[in-house]
Amino acid sequence: MKSRESKLMEWFQWFHQHPELSYEEYGTTAKIREILMEEGVEILPCPLETGLVAVIRGKAKGPVRALRCDIDALPIQEDSGLSYSSEYPGRMHACGHDFHIMIGIGCAMLLNERKMELAGSVKIIFQPAEETSLGALKILETDVMDDVQQIWGIHADPTNDTGTIGIKEGAVTAAVDRFVVTVKGVGCHGAHPDDGRDPIPAAAAIVQAFQTIVTRNVNAFHPALISVTRMEAGNTWNVIPETALLEGTVRTMDGRDRSLFEQRVKEIARYTASSYGMRADVQWVAGPPATLNDEEMAKVSRMKALEMGFQVVPEESSMGGDDFAFLEEKIPGCYLKIGTGKGQLIHQPGFVVDVEAIIPAIRYVAELVANGPS
Ligand code: NI
Repeated sequence: MKSRESKLMEWFQWFHQHPELSYEEYGTTAKIREILMEEGVEILPCPLETGLVAVIRGKAKGPVRALRCDIDALPIQEDSGLSYSSEYPGRMHACGHDFHIMIGIGCAMLLNERKMELAGSVKIIFQPAEETSLGALKILETDVMDDVQQIWGIHADPTNDTGTIGIKEGAVTAAVDRFVVTVKGVGCHGAHPDDGRDPIPAAAAIVQAFQTIVTRNVNAFHPALISVTRMEAGNTWNVIPETALLEGTVRTMDGRDRSLFEQRVKEIARYTASSYGMRADVQWVAGPPATLNDEEMAKVSRMKALEMGFQVVPEESSMGGDDFAFLEEKIPGCYLKIGTGKGQLIHQPGFVVDVEAIIPAIRYVAELVANGPS
């Protein structure tokens, strides 16, 4: 008989070797299902294409708590040097979601054994497509969250040592919005700009003016940013193009700043274009809001981490986003960072999770979802 720890390590390596991209996590889902069934954990009937939800029903009555584990990987060629590197070219678990899967599986096993002592129930949500920022909406389309009263989210943290937990009250990840601006001019010969309306100087002016939203419109104490990440116009040297396209992202921590940005991006694009004698269409694509950690849950998470011998570190806020925030919009939640050993950052080809972090994290997270604040 293999020990549970060696089984967990084997499974972790399997997930690391078989990374699947967002909405394509079929093999991953099948493997999680197979393991949970083998371990006698109940799986909820749930109309999810990829991802699944396990439930552990305690003997005594009590609240329904949940843990969100995301399961997707990234289109990155792994260069970690691990003996169990990805077997799929160009795909890698570079955000530690394989680690999250293991915490979900480990918690399900541990709590399933302790069902008799468990008050209430625990749902372990294996969520697809976190990297798209929209996978959590797939969970919300089902009725899985309807009876859940508290939810925990976790993330591997390569900026901290194994044995640390990053916890913070309030906003920890930013609201993620995307914009696309199309400036519509009139194309003509590059030698005769007077025959057309050149969208390029207008687009350049819009990019410049966008920067003033942060410096002139947002409260100086509020973290916020706008990045124009793509500019596209023209295809040769002597033709003034018809259109210029700008795309980018806005990150905010505060709901009012978020609305302000949407308003200012639209105003600046439209009025700047109009001052150049042309039109700009603005498409605004709202992603998840900011992740806001519930104070009481953060407090209990801190207390239990210290009791269990972890070192608690202040969780760094990030202008990155996490669709966990969609779940937290419905119910109180807490998003924790689990130290997985200092090394290359997430989304980098050399990112590695220290396997020593797995078992302690499972014990800790299981304790939280079993005995969170009542
Ligand atoms: Ni991630």
